[in-house]
Amino acid sequence: MANGTAQSSITMRKDAWWVAPLVTATILSIFGLYSTWRAFSHADFLVQPYLSPFYSPYLLASWWPLSPALLILWAPLGFRATCYYYRKAYYRSFFMAPPGCAVRPLAKEGSYAGETRFPFILQNIHRYFFYAAGVILIFLWIDALHAFKFEDGFGIGVGTIVLIINAVLLSMYSLSCHSFRHLVGGKLDVFSKCPTRFRIWGKVSVWNEHHMFWAWVSLFSVALADLYVFLLARGVITDIRII
Ligand code: FES
Repeated sequence: MANGTAQSSITMRKDAWWVAPLVTATILSIFGLYSTWRAFSHADFLVQPYLSPFYSPYLLASWWPLSPALLILWAPLGFRATCYYYRKAYYRSFFMAPPGCAVRPLAKEGSYAGETRFPFILQNIHRYFFYAAGVILIFLWIDALHAFKFEDGFGIGVGTIVLIINAVLLSMYSLSCHSFRHLVGGKLDVFSKCPTRFRIWGKVSVWNEHHMFWAWVSLFSVALADLYVFLLARGVITDIRII
């Protein structure tokens, strides 16, 4: 009888295992809605010397009728969507496959195919998104440095700090990526023959241990950096000039 009850219940866990997937689903949904609205709006993304990270690099193509953000956002969004950490996060929170350790998955038993079939087999292109997102990251740094260039010369505003912090956090997210770790230290039989690569791999491995942390803080920073430029452009807030 006890066994029968255990098998029919979703889990025997007594802790609040559902909190993490619920919070994850809520935050990712808010971010998804906000970034989609901003990407399509094509307005209030530039206040000199600040450019919203959603529009970096700002491409003006005469043949493209929609927001130029859509020309570039596929790279960072594809990078996040195929990220090893986010995969775990949204498989649990949205697909409930499974929603937590020792919790029964929503899908029928035996139907789980992992990432061996379409569409999830496409997750394997993560390393290529890493390269594409790396190019975007270079432009984000150029824009962050441009944020020191005011009309009257060199300066630092709150927006400058916001864009620099965002570039740093996004860099840490990329540099702690599993694909980057493999790029640096993979396909080597003997580390002692490549001491430099070994040293870099050791560093990247330390960052990689905290990849989840970088994934979340960079998600917040990119959305908040965009929100900051948006509120400035709308005149809701004023940038404070520090220097
Ligand atoms: S594993 Fe998360 S960005 Fe590569």
